[in-house]
Amino acid sequence: MAKPTGSVMEKIVALCKRRGFIFQNSEIYGGINGFWDYGPLGVELKRNLKNAWWTDMVHNREDMVGLDCSIIMHPQVWKCSGHQDLFSDMMIDCRESKGRYRYDHVEVLRKKETLAGDLMFAFVGNDTEQTQRATKLFEKRHKQPATDDNSEVVSLSSIPVADLCRVVAPEAKQPGTLTDPREFNLMFKTYVGATADEDNVAYLRPETAQGIFVNFKNVVDSTRIKLPFGIAQIGKSFRNEITPRNYTFRSREFEQMEIEFFCHPSESSQWYQYWRDVRLQWYVNLGLGSSKLQLREHGADERSHYSCGTADVEYAFPFLADGEFGELEGVAHRGDYDLNAHMHGQKNPDGSIKHKGSGKDLTYFDPEKKERFVPHVIEPSAGADRGTLAFICEAYTVDESRPSPELMKFHPRLAPIKAAVFPLVNKDGMPEIAEPIYRAIRQRWPAQYDAKASIGKRYARMDEAGTPYCFTIDGQTKEDSTVTVRDRDTGSQDRIDKSRIVEYLSDKLGNGAE
Ligand code: GAP
Repeated sequence: MAKPTGSVMEKIVALCKRRGFIFQNSEIYGGINGFWDYGPLGVELKRNLKNAWWTDMVHNREDMVGLDCSIIMHPQVWKCSGHQDLFSDMMIDCRESKGRYRYDHVEVLRKKETLAGDLMFAFVGNDTEQTQRATKLFEKRHKQPATDDNSEVVSLSSIPVADLCRVVAPEAKQPGTLTDPREFNLMFKTYVGATADEDNVAYLRPETAQGIFVNFKNVVDSTRIKLPFGIAQIGKSFRNEITPRNYTFRSREFEQMEIEFFCHPSESSQWYQYWRDVRLQWYVNLGLGSSKLQLREHGADERSHYSCGTADVEYAFPFLADGEFGELEGVAHRGDYDLNAHMHGQKNPDGSIKHKGSGKDLTYFDPEKKERFVPHVIEPSAGADRGTLAFICEAYTVDESRPSPELMKFHPRLAPIKAAVFPLVNKDGMPEIAEPIYRAIRQRWPAQYDAKASIGKRYARMDEAGTPYCFTIDGQTKEDSTVTVRDRDTGSQDRIDKSRIVEYLSDKLGNGAE
């Protein structure tokens, strides 16, 4: 069931808008569902996250190279990858309200002992208003409160299609307005060239991974890298999600940070375990609380069409019910599915060719073992927007002992602004001391200078931006050259010599501060 309104999530969304982390896309025109923009602080935060990933996964490893592929690819790519036939969700429409829902997202509140004539009330899980509405309708209809003893919530998909006539849809007044569920392909279609005819159809990529697979041979031929190795890519992906929701969590345009790690088939199980552990630890190292993180192995029925093993790194987002987790990243054992598919195409059940492959040789030759084989692939696939959202949720802290209680405790590597410099008053020679300090910091890290408003307000603004350290130049600075340094998380203040500020920040931020 959804969280009540006035929740932590609503406060986070308000802070993100107020301080310029995330804005609704095209807001002045009423917005467009599933699309979001990052404001001045948000763009720095997301960029820091992507830079941390690239530094840790590509630059700091000898077995990884990068790639940057275009968003539109040859349409045959999506036929052979399986996306054209299989990349779909079941959806269901409401004839009365014209609402459209993802079948597996709709839940139904019904009596525990449902009789033939009893109505059932549908709502989208996690939608607070719809949950409350369904509960009210249930109570009005059955003249009793919906308690654990007399009612239950089941998924709509568990109800036989013949019984949909007894279901009141999430936004409908009458029962029986839901259509039969049907498949909906999530790829955005477009046309390449001047004429919008079927020969010119192309798709916006729904994952960055396929660009890596079709370039596998190019990378092997153009570098000296040897198996096992990975190819990493960060880029936009697009999915025409039926019900985008939960802020940026399920968007229609988002960024992925994907690795395809190629290895010998006999070593693939070990590499799968390795990447599951490495990727989980990466989030912990950047500050996600381990009690809010979990690694969950998928059941066979949950895996994508290409996967022979998947584990999700999941986070307890605050918009989810207590005890529920949402996917941050999937680590999949894709076997040799993709390289084979791009070599040989896709077959029909009778063995005939359904989609013709490239016919190119995408095998790997090991010169030492004199062995040729199709590598297996382990794919850690992370969402940059979901990661950003998780770090925002984790950083959000309320400290009632402060005059302005909300602050963002970002890890220093992720903090959009690393330090701020304030002259206590904008006169008495203080700006003359503060400005060179600010310029020196800015040469190394993103920093801000603020000479206006009360010092308390200036600290509060930096707390909400998540700036780890603020330096204040005051009357004593002129006497002994010391400044105060205030720690965001504790609010405590120390005095250090102004000549030590850059060294102090180097120690505190470490080399990793992007
Ligand atoms: N190449 C494999 C792949 O794309 P996925 O589990 O569909 O796997 C990987 O996506 C990651 O991309 C997810 O764990 C999530 O972080 C992100 N992602 C997927 N769909 C998304 C959406 N609609 N909005 C935001 N992020 C999404």
